[in-house]
Amino acid sequence: MNTPTAPVALVTGANKGIGLGLVKQLANAGWTVYLGSRDAARGHAARDSLPAGLDIRVLALDVTDARALQAATDTVQQGSGKLDVLINNAGIALDVEPPSKATLESLRGTFETNVFGPVLVTQAMLPLLRAGTLKRIVNVSSELGSATLHGDPNFKYAFVNGLSYCSSKSALNAFTVLLSKELYAEGFAVNAVNPGYTATDLNGHSGTLTVEQAATTVARVALSELGTGSFFTEGGRLPW
Ligand SMILES: NC(=O)c1ccc[n+]([C@@H]2O[C@H](COP(=O)([O-])OP(=O)(O)OC[C@H]3O[C@@H](n4cnc5c(N)ncnc54)[C@H](OP(=O)(O)O)[C@@H]3O)[C@@H](O)[C@H]2O)c1
Repeated sequence: MNTPTAPVALVTGANKGIGLGLVKQLANAGWTVYLGSRDAARGHAARDSLPAGLDIRVLALDVTDARALQAATDTVQQGSGKLDVLINNAGIALDVEPPSKATLESLRGTFETNVFGPVLVTQAMLPLLRAGTLKRIVNVSSELGSATLHGDPNFKYAFVNGLSYCSSKSALNAFTVLLSKELYAEGFAVNAVNPGYTATDLNGHSGTLTVEQAATTVARVALSELGTGSFFTEGGRLPW
């Protein structure tokens, strides 16, 4: 094992988009970063797109595949023996069907990646996080997951009413709060963060923020001591 002296982070779904931006920022900060990718070749291509000399390790990880998860955990255990920060970033948006029309297929598929994935990955990585120093878990959520904001008719994204994606991020938020309570006594910081509406494949590049801007918002929560049990956004916090 080559135990890094720098903090060690794992970013899931990091072969493109905000996840890849996060890998770049954390590695530039001198951290050892596992670049999670469900397709190893896409992961290596992503790593090769970043400057040489950074400690970036490609980790094959489909967050919906329990067997891949065990292999990924073993790889991190053997490679660094610890994790300081886990960023549950992998996510999908299958459709925008409103509650009256959303199919169970869409709900199940979305929850599989956006909710059950982070739960499984977090549970599997907990022993490695307990062996780390920083003990931070960052769940990449969305303001579209805020039930409070959806209850406000003036919410700027009130028109976005797709049940599958919005409710998956609400469930991820609930996981964040409950896990932060459970792990509080052990010194963990468990937080959710909204990267903001960002131009990526997820939305056909219609977002108004750059990947770098979104990654900066998420990286702040990974890199800083900000307490536990909050839902962060650029420049502040959001209501659950
Ligand atoms: N873009 C926005 O405006 C926005 C706003 C708020 C929140 N977010 C959240 O930000 C996160 C990143 O999204 P993004 O905009 O960067 O989207 P993106 O460019 O589509 O990237 C999504 C990443 O997740 C990966 N992924 C999907 N399913 C996976 C699985 N089962 N296992 C492992 N990886 C998987 C994708 O891998 P493949 O390349 O293999 O598909 C890809 O690397 C998501 O959680 C999203 O909900 C995005």
